[in-house]
Amino acid sequence: MGFDLGEVRRRMPSRALHWHRRMDSTMTEASRLAAEGCASGTAVIADEQTAGIGRHGHSWHSEAGLGLYVSVVLRQKFVDSFPGVTLAVGLAAREAIVEATGVVCDLRWPNDLLIGGRKCAGILLNLESKAIIAGIGINVNHGGFPEQLRELATSLRIAAGREFRREHLLVELLLAMERYTKLIEEEGIKPVLRLFAQASSYVSGMRVRVEQGETALEGVTAGLDESGFLLLRQDNGKLVTVLAGGVRPAS
Ligand code: BTN
Repeated sequence: MGFDLGEVRRRMPSRALHWHRRMDSTMTEASRLAAEGCASGTAVIADEQTAGIGRHGHSWHSEAGLGLYVSVVLRQKFVDSFPGVTLAVGLAAREAIVEATGVVCDLRWPNDLLIGGRKCAGILLNLESKAIIAGIGINVNHGGFPEQLRELATSLRIAAGREFRREHLLVELLLAMERYTKLIEEEGIKPVLRLFAQASSYVSGMRVRVEQGETALEGVTAGLDESGFLLLRQDNGKLVTVLAGGVRPAS
């Protein structure tokens, strides 16, 4: 399915949109535009990425014509609320997916979007000197995945049994991100933490393992702290704060 950028422009006439048929990563281009002083909300979109970047040094599978690959420059005074912004972008992506497709995703802290335990979207936030670059990758119309991702990944098409227009999803995503940035500016991150806890099955009462490089933590999730970090009750009763790491269900 093609990508009708004209429709996005019609619905968001004042938004700076940079669409590329093929590029290494939208993160690199958004970072370059941010350094040049582009407006907050500027979005870089690619139909295909040849070197899509994931979290924890992983790559992001970015096949041509199937996914939504977008990086958005955020310039608001967010630096103090960085973990909260991370959760907010996950919530925005979740809302956009519901609006555009009717598919409801779970959120795995900090911001993976899951359907039936498999990842359908991932988010990468880079804090740069003059902006936050929020990179969002959504598996939209993929009919399948390479061997190494088959057990881990899914798409909206696989979940819903039909294809979706990526431009609708992009408009909903940009609108939802606008709502959340406004919410944080006006009310801080408290409402974001509440909404995230409501939307995510991972925040409370789930036994998880958190891989942190060479080491790992295990315990039962016990909510979010006031900054948006995940709290984990270990088996010895100790409450620890998870600042980063890959959270996975443990049995
Ligand atoms: C993750 O590992 O979960 C984060 C994936 C982020 C992928 C998106 S796709 C658009 C943007 N460009 C990239 O190279 N990465 C992000």
